[in-house]
Amino acid sequence: MYAERISGLKSSAIREILKVTSKPGIISFAGGLPAPELFPGKEIAEAAQGIFAKYGTSVLQYSVTEGLRSLREKIAAILDPEASHIGPKNIIITHGSQQGLDLISKLYLEKGRVVFTETPSYLGAIQAFRLFQADILPIASDGDGIQPVGLLRAVKKQRPALIYLMPNFQNPTGVSLSLERRKEIVDIVKEHDLLLVEDDPYGDLFFSGEKMPSLFTLGRSHNFIYMSSFSKTIAPGLRIAYLAGDEEKISKIAVVKQGTDLQTNTFGQYLVDEYLESSRFDHQRKILRQTYKHRRDCMLAAMAEYFPASVSRNHPNGGMFLWVKLPEHFNARDVLLRCLEKEVAFVPGQEFYSDGSGENTIRLNFSNATPENIEEGIKRIGEVLKEAGLS
Ligand SMILES: Cc1ncc(COP(=O)(O)O)c(C=O)c1O
Repeated sequence: MYAERISGLKSSAIREILKVTSKPGIISFAGGLPAPELFPGKEIAEAAQGIFAKYGTSVLQYSVTEGLRSLREKIAAILDPEASHIGPKNIIITHGSQQGLDLISKLYLEKGRVVFTETPSYLGAIQAFRLFQADILPIASDGDGIQPVGLLRAVKKQRPALIYLMPNFQNPTGVSLSLERRKEIVDIVKEHDLLLVEDDPYGDLFFSGEKMPSLFTLGRSHNFIYMSSFSKTIAPGLRIAYLAGDEEKISKIAVVKQGTDLQTNTFGQYLVDEYLESSRFDHQRKILRQTYKHRRDCMLAAMAEYFPASVSRNHPNGGMFLWVKLPEHFNARDVLLRCLEKEVAFVPGQEFYSDGSGENTIRLNFSNATPENIEEGIKRIGEVLKEAGLS
């Protein structure tokens, strides 16, 4: 009775883990959740009053599929301050970046088409691509992101429908693509006239230095689609995100969106637009960077104290995730089961490998727990690892 494309779908193990972690008392590093105490609730309430005062009940009316023009103008100005190549016509507002992934999948994917990803990659994207029956080809990646040589080799064998990358503090590892590799990848994409989708929800959450240029900005051509979201910098419940690309692609995506949900919710768009009018956004991002950096440091310090030496971890310079590797052939799912008994949770990294590898890896979120809970939770995981015989 179900459509054929549904037959291969299974519920994500992450959703199952998150069900357990919603129990009171559990320390969870599992979800990719921002810190709720930092949501700008007061400013959003003020913005709500402000938009009713300015626009009346039209903020509750249907609106255009591409999204509120003034919000698209602001986003265009963020992406291209000189306004030399990006304008509102290059932007469409989506219900979260997850909808952006769905719309892109509807536009480009079908049975027999292939998506190249870094390894590991964002599970929500893999799910969106698979729903349209695409095959996923994971390309070798390391501490500097996807390896251009591996990408080039794959491109020479087979033309992908699209390449999906998260160059900044990617989910799940927190790794960023080095500047040198960004340039190499842009060259490969342009030379072979490919389509690259750049997903960048974490780029503003850097802990030192400054934001690296996007592939979209470096490439400046029809070969690149950029997507970002206000989920991690304002609040995910608003579900306001956007896609940027050339006019032709954006208008095609708008047609697909019409058939999906007509438009992104008008009220949420007005709220974000009003919030961006004030200077609060800069302040908010600064607070997020400081707080998350502190939490990352707390997690690394606790790991240094409580984890066995044979367990390695990385040192992400931004975002919300830390990546841990257990010795080879050690299974993170078994560790999780024992951790849940001690009321602490994480996501086994294997979930993010489309080829089923990575069984000895772990994704830990550091943005959502307090420093005290971070120390306590890492201590408990350390106990489980030692009880399992690691030293
Ligand atoms: C890489 C990546 N893309 C997209 C999303 C979806 O974000 P949203 O739909 O809230 O904008 C997430 C959420 O965690 C993510 O990590």
